[in-house]
Amino acid sequence: MASLEMIVADIAAEMADAPDRGTVADYIPGLAEIDSGRFGIAVIEADGTCHKAGDADEPFSIQSISKVFSLTLALGAIGDRLWDRVGREPSGSAFNSIVQLETESGIPRNPFINAGAIVVADMILGAHEPIEAIGEILRFVRSLADDDSIFIDERIARAEQETGFRNIALANYMRAFGNLRQPVERTLGVYFHQCALAMSCHQLARAGGYLMAGGINPATGHSIVSTQRARRINALMMTCGHYDGSGEFAFRVGLPGKSGVGGGILAIAPGKASIAVWSPGLNPRGTSQLGALALERLVQRTGWSVFEPSGG
Ligand code: DON
Repeated sequence: MASLEMIVADIAAEMADAPDRGTVADYIPGLAEIDSGRFGIAVIEADGTCHKAGDADEPFSIQSISKVFSLTLALGAIGDRLWDRVGREPSGSAFNSIVQLETESGIPRNPFINAGAIVVADMILGAHEPIEAIGEILRFVRSLADDDSIFIDERIARAEQETGFRNIALANYMRAFGNLRQPVERTLGVYFHQCALAMSCHQLARAGGYLMAGGINPATGHSIVSTQRARRINALMMTCGHYDGSGEFAFRVGLPGKSGVGGGILAIAPGKASIAVWSPGLNPRGTSQLGALALERLVQRTGWSVFEPSGG
């Protein structure tokens, strides 16, 4: 087998020539203006060795990938009581869909659809000021990646707020069911800011290390979550991380993964690697077109799919 360094370099070279790059999200200027020609990949192995190629050090808007970190933080704060207010089933619907909330009493199907992530943001907010909750999320991600240069792009956060009518509707609807405890605009302030986190593939792969290593940050040896919780977060990423495209992603890639409309994907090969890819063009389900293709090629060449006899 070729070395991992070579596999990663080859994939980046292949993606540079890919003709079908998907469509860049255009609902806010901060995303619409990103060049669809960008591609980055970072693979961090269990022993800390990092392989990167392309635009791996370029910060991008992580958007819904932040839902993995906010879920981790909320579970740490309130524990498994979180599951009284958020389900653990794939929705089979678009990330911002409202339809199931009516028949399911305002309880979102899972923490990765927007409705679920808004409830999780409400839990993190609790009795705090939004600015404190936002600071807590930022500090958490910085400590996971051991990198204080990670920042929240205020221009993106503001634009999310100005165009977030669906999220505002979802939040109000859940508040009507009593599943949002804090004022809607305060909870959404937290949610919009977490979506506006800017990180590079390298930073993101580092931040995901605890999910590769059974809940331990492999760089520091600190326990972030229990082994059981890391396994469960990975299970949710596998079943729900790409919304109505989760089955397709499992079929093609076979790794727990979480996408964002900024074009990033965090994927975890348990015990083997934490992987981040970025290419801003999206497929119709809002997953990076080339990001998914790059991950598909990576697992083909490494055998890392959790469904391989030697994988997982
Ligand atoms: O809340 C939203 O709709 C966006 N800020 C984030 C959505 C997102 O990343 C969906 N994932 N692919």
